This record gives sequence, structure tokens and C-alpha cells, in this order.
Amino acid sequence: MDMKRKHLIRLGAGAAAGLAAAAAVWAGTAANAEDNAPEGDFEAQIIGGQPAEEGQFPWLVGLGSPGEGTPWERQFCGGSVIAEDVVLTAAHCVEGSAAEDLVIFSGSVDLESDAVVETAVADLHVSETYNDPIAMANDWALLKLAEPVDVEPIALGTDAAEYEVLETAGWGNTGEEYPVVAEWVEVPFVTDADCEAAYPDEVDAASMLCAGDLANGGVDSCQGDSGGPIMTPAGDEQVLVGIVSWGYGCAEAGNPGVYSEIAGFADAIDEVLAGWE
Ligand code: ARG
Repeated sequence: MDMKRKHLIRLGAGAAAGLAAAAAVWAGTAANAEDNAPEGDFEAQIIGGQPAEEGQFPWLVGLGSPGEGTPWERQFCGGSVIAEDVVLTAAHCVEGSAAEDLVIFSGSVDLESDAVVETAVADLHVSETYNDPIAMANDWALLKLAEPVDVEPIALGTDAAEYEVLETAGWGNTGEEYPVVAEWVEVPFVTDADCEAAYPDEVDAASMLCAGDLANGGVDSCQGDSGGPIMTPAGDEQVLVGIVSWGYGCAEAGNPGVYSEIAGFADAIDEVLAGWE
């Protein structure tokens, strides 16, 4: 769904920056995407963030398509390594895809770096309750990798809570471009009640968590960040509390980012992992 919007934005941003190669890659779908893209997305501005340091979020991976082109040209979503050979991402990133249509980029925040390791996906599990009880509910999927990746996995936050500090990261639209180096930003927690008020009848509080600066906007995840992490510090570590999922536009006041909330489906994740042992 949102991949089309990304194609359009990347075409525009790429062409403007003189990145003819990136433009050519996406040209095939741009005409079609143009018809579907809501206007608000062009104002969209990980928005308000800064480039991630190498090793800051070792578990952060890019999800892309196999084939020609650099990892940056092929990346379309994010993900988090939660075990040496398992990535957690969003259902809407991989719905309708077969394992062989997907690869994972790990090992560097810079998707044009020689340090990037490309790993095939051997199996995938899309949440059986995706879009249930409402659209975008339970937006999660697990990817079993063909081989382990050499990165530190992130632990899952399995209790719902109100958070002091949340951080999200990815290679999504910054408002200007699709960055080669992942960006990250701190986003304020938004309560379920405030989120339900922002998006009446569209929030499944059991499986969604919201974050953003409701009053001012300016900080958010955005198209291309989907599937990636939203994290909270726990001592010296970070814990994965959610997955980038959806929002109206990006970083707009009144329209928070919505994340799949791990606590709502941690047991279902454990079951899939147990089956893969
Ligand atoms: N659905 C988008 C994607 O596929 C992510 C949107 C997040 N939007 C937001 N405002 N936080 O990349």
C-alpha cells in the first residue's frame, strides 16, 4: 500500500537530487502511484531526526527486494532483529510477498556501505489477526532468515505501559529525501485516549501504540520507516515496544504516528518462534 507512495516520493526526490539511477528504478510504478497518493504526503516531513551512529541500533535492518541495485535503491521497509535469524517487521510490508521476494540488509546504518550484509529470507509468518478487529490492527510479521546475522538482537517489551522516552529509526522519508544513512528521532508518547481522539474509530488500543508531538508536530516516522522499531530505554539497553505502522501524513500536529504494540501480540510471536526452533 504505502510502498507506492514511497515510489512516487523517491522518484521526485531522486530526480530533484539528480539521482537518475534511483529515479529509473521506480519509474515503472510512478504513474500509477500518482493517482493514489494523497496530497498531504508531499508536505510530509524520520522527520525532525538526525543520522544514526554506526552501532547505535545494531538490530535495525532494512527490508528490500532481491536483485540489481544498491541496498538503498532496493530498501522499502525497516525491521528489527529479535533473534540471530529472526526479523520482526510490519505485516503491511510483506503481505502478499513470498520469502524469495525479500532480503534483509544488516551490518551498517549506511545502505551504500560495503559493510552491508544481504541475507535471504527463508520463511515468513504474517500475523493471522492482521486487519482484525479493524484495519491495520496487529500489523506485524516475522521473517525467518536463511542464515543468522551477526548483530545484537533487541529484546521485546512485553508489558503495555506509558513511556517517558521513545525513539524510532529508519531509512524512511525525511521530508526531503530517502536518506542513505538511517535517521532516528525521539517521539513523545501519546496516550490511547488522545490517539483515539485524533483518529476516531481507527485505533485498536490493544495492538496499537501512538507517538508524536500532538500540539506541534515536527517529529515522526514516515513512509519507508514502516516495519522498523520504536524503542524505549531500559537501563543500559533498549527494548522494542512497537513497529512503525501508519499515520495521516507525517509529523503533522494532531496526527500522531501509530505503531503496532508488541505487548498486544507478544504471546503470538512466541508461538511462531517456538514453531521455528
Ligand atoms: N506506512 C508507512 C510505511 O509503509 C509508515 C507510516 C508511518 N507514518 C507516520 N506518520 N508515523 O513506511
